Amino acid sequence: MTGSRLVGSGSALPRRVVTNGELAARIDTSDEWIVERTGIRQRYIAGEGETTASLATEAARAALADCGLAARDIDLIVLATATPDNTFPATATKVQHALGCNGGIAFDVAAVCSGFLYALATADSMLRTGMGRRALVIGAETFSRILDWNDRTTCVLFGDGAGAVVLEAPTSGDSAPGESAAGVLATRLHADGAQHDLLYVDGGPSTTQTVGHLRMKGREVFRHAVVNLSEVLNEVLDAAGVRAAEIDWIVPHQANARILDATARKLGIPAEKVIVTVDRHANTSAASVPLAFDAARCDGRIRPGDLVMFEAMGGGFTWGASLVRL
Ligand code: COA
Repeated sequence: MTGSRLVGSGSALPRRVVTNGELAARIDTSDEWIVERTGIRQRYIAGEGETTASLATEAARAALADCGLAARDIDLIVLATATPDNTFPATATKVQHALGCNGGIAFDVAAVCSGFLYALATADSMLRTGMGRRALVIGAETFSRILDWNDRTTCVLFGDGAGAVVLEAPTSGDSAPGESAAGVLATRLHADGAQHDLLYVDGGPSTTQTVGHLRMKGREVFRHAVVNLSEVLNEVLDAAGVRAAEIDWIVPHQANARILDATARKLGIPAEKVIVTVDRHANTSAASVPLAFDAARCDGRIRPGDLVMFEAMGGGFTWGASLVRL
């Protein structure tokens, strides 16, 4: 059976843009190094009053407006983040209250940069089993607040933002006979806790009682990312019975332009089918996939009926992919 249908999207970015040149004025780096190694030219950084919840709420409102729904139509909010407003309660509950749809289900998912894929799969499963009719699936982050701004190997790579999609439970008879049904076609998720120390935050309530800073062995992460992503993309294609050539768009996690290129090449997918926003947004972790998706819908590239592959990999390691017919 085809899964939940993706009926709307929205996104939000902080007001302030920080260019590579501005970073180069503060730390030992250069626009040239950052662009050549990562493809990043700028990132958005949250300012006073901008938090993960406020960005998530703005993205959620935009997603609801996109499909003409009201907050009261939403039964379930699944929010992926590694930078919640508070250790608890879940940022999703803050968003629920801000939207004004109190009373339904709302919780956070922690899978770092794969968070949106984990959240999408969770919401899809819950809608398929009748736990609600419509869900908001949100990826929202303020990574700028867990970066070590003196560590040039990590602080140049990340940015802040939020993206949201509206999912609708599948109904029988959604498509005419012979027509390819819209909805989530196949999803695969993975995790490997043995790789914990390659990408992590060196603090937390139960260990240091501090928030901590992001630490990463970039070169190791790069190597695992290309292998893991290629494998999971092929798993999803097999599960859906679809050939790589049939995909209209890949919407990858925006970590590094070189990872995007290498992964697409391994699958034999031309670069024109890969949505790239890492140059503008940098790596916004759980927000990056829905932000890129919404950007490509707004500029008219991704259209109704398209076959779209989402994929991401992040700390844990966690990784996953999902194929959706719009
Ligand atoms: N500006 C200038 N020089 C920098 C720098 C910066 N911001 N960051 C690192 N360097 C230097 C290093 O100190 C090193 O110098 P050395 O050779 O004198 O020791 C040199 O650049 C090469 O560093 P290295 O880490 O080997 O570079 P790289 O080609 O692997 O690129 C990353 C670094 C982080 C861009 C790359 O490894 C990467 O993108 N990894 C994946 C990261 C990722 O996607 N993480 C998120 C997953 S969710």
